[in-house]
Formats: sequence, C-alpha cells, structure tokens
Amino acid sequence: MEEKIAKLTENCTAEISAADSESALYAVRVKYLGKSGLISELMKGMRELSPEMRPLMGKIVNEARGKLESLFAEKGKALHESELAARLAAEKIDITIDKAHPVGKLHPLSAVRKRLVDFFVSMGFDVMEGPEVETDYYNFEALNVPKDHPARDMQDTFFIGGNTLLRSQTSAAQIRYMENHKPPLKMISPGRVFRNDDDATHSPVFHQLEGLVVDKGITMCDLKGILESFAKHFFGQETKVRFRPSYFPFTEPSVEVDVSCAICHGKGCRICKGTGWIEILGAGIVNRKVLRTCDIDPDEYTGFAFGFGIDRIANIIHGIPHIKLLYENDIRFLKQF
Ligand code: PHE
Repeated sequence: MEEKIAKLTENCTAEISAADSESALYAVRVKYLGKSGLISELMKGMRELSPEMRPLMGKIVNEARGKLESLFAEKGKALHESELAARLAAEKIDITIDKAHPVGKLHPLSAVRKRLVDFFVSMGFDVMEGPEVETDYYNFEALNVPKDHPARDMQDTFFIGGNTLLRSQTSAAQIRYMENHKPPLKMISPGRVFRNDDDATHSPVFHQLEGLVVDKGITMCDLKGILESFAKHFFGQETKVRFRPSYFPFTEPSVEVDVSCAICHGKGCRICKGTGWIEILGAGIVNRKVLRTCDIDPDEYTGFAFGFGIDRIANIIHGIPHIKLLYENDIRFLKQF
C-alpha cells in the first residue's frame, strides 16, 4: 500500500506539472483528490489493513494528500497568473493610438448656420424648418406670386410635377407657420432651398435663413434695428448697413440690404468688387395680401420679413471665393476651418 501511495503521488506530481491550463489542472485534481478520486479509492483499501497498520497508513496518505494540495495550490497560482498575463497582453488597448485619427468637426456651413440660428434664438425667435418638397401654394401663391406672374422668373424653379416643386425659398415655411400661429410672432426658417442657378456665387442647392416678425405697430425701423445688430454681430462692430429700394412680391415696400465690406472697410477690394459694400439680403414689410391669406388682419397687424443665403454669409465670414468649395468636401479645404 505504501508503494501504491508513492506511485500515485509521483504520477499526480507529474500530471500537475504537465497541466497547461487552469481547467486541465482542475481535471487532475478531480482525478486524484475528488470524492471518488484515486486517493479515496485507495483509502477504501484501509479496511483490509491490520488495526495497528491503519494509523500509520492514514498518516502517510494524509501527508501525501497535504503535499499534493500544496502542489495544486502552487501550480494553480502560477497558471492563474500566466493566464491573466496572456489575456492582458492579448486584450491590451493602446489608448495613445487615437492620435493617428484626426478629430472631426462641424462643416463650416453647419458651424455658421448654428451660429446664425443661435443669434436669432437669443433674440427670442422661434425656429421652423418646413419641408424641402413643397407645393406651388406655399412656395408661390400664398406669397403673392400667382401662376404666370413675371415674378416667378426671379427664381428658376425645379418643378417635380403637377403642383409639387423643390422649394426655392424658405419663405414657404413662414406661410405654414402663420397658418398655425397667430401674432405676435417672431420666427426664423433655416434650411435647404433649390434653384436652377449655377455659377461662382450660385449653386442649384443652397441654404437660406429667413426671418418673420408680425405684431401690432411693426415698422421698417424694427427691421433696421434687428438687421443692424445682426450685421455688427457677424461682421464686426464698425459695420454699416444700407437699405436700397427693391421689389419682392411678398413685401411692400421691399429693400435689398448691403453691409460695409468687412475686408476693406468701404475702401473697395476684390471681395466687394471695388464698391465697399456687400449685398447680403432681401427684406421688407410683409405684403398685406400675404397677411390676409394667412388670416391675419393687415389693418391690425404689420410685420417685416428678411431672407439671406447662409452659404453667402459663410463665404463672407471666411473669405471663401467660390460657393462650390462648400459642397465638394475636399478635406484639404475643410481642414482650414
Ligand atoms: N425669399 C426671398 C428670396 O429668396 C428673400 C426675402 C425674404 C425677401 C423675405 C424679402 C423678404 O429671394
């Protein structure tokens, strides 16, 4: 029996040192020290021993068991450590690697749009975007541009068919707004618009921001006040604003608004084409017909409206010479902002 124990201890020691994983080691442990493992088997043989031999053998078996237990513990610890080390190495995340990836940022157009919207929101304007695919009614008729009216030529429009078109101005959203809101009202409609135009300063797709204020006693002075603070905020405190008479079917009287050139301060340069002024927007007092269409009494209420191209404002702020640069998404261009 003593021999058997020695043999068993020897085999178990060899298997412990051969175990190459925690689960393999566990299997060896079950095989030898488990409830019905080889040592328990051996213990059953004790019954056949003489009473005086039993304590002796018991002692030898217990010693062997103790020795094996400590071998298991030692090996278990070593395996645990090396398995942990291997996992840590395999799952290592190099947090410095992100340096290789450039951090993205807002497109200059989105950044300028956000600043513009923030400015008007800070002055108490509500924001409504409206649909890009519009009906003739909202884009033209309700804005006092009846079918066959020559004013339709001001905006070369993409008709989709029937009465549907890609909106040529965000004024369309203002009609929708007036259908659901009664004065006093103060809102802007920023968004994408579409016209069959294509040159250095015009793109078939561009972005507008139009504003509308309707209340009792609104005059051209209110319009001028808002536009002056707008111009000073975006082009500098020394910026001057000038109104020129113009024509839009939905405003009467109508004006075109210029700001003094922020580059040359009125002396004349390439950006302002030598005039010292840059045209930035159209505006005017809301036509009585438009108010009436929206069920607002023009004898009780008056309003002003204005509209400009966000792309144009972005180009002026950043000195970008060609509108298409904003749409090409050339990373070398975008990186400059
Ligand atoms: N909707 C006009 C345009 O797109 C701009 C404008 C808006 C003019 C409001 C006057 C008042 O050309």
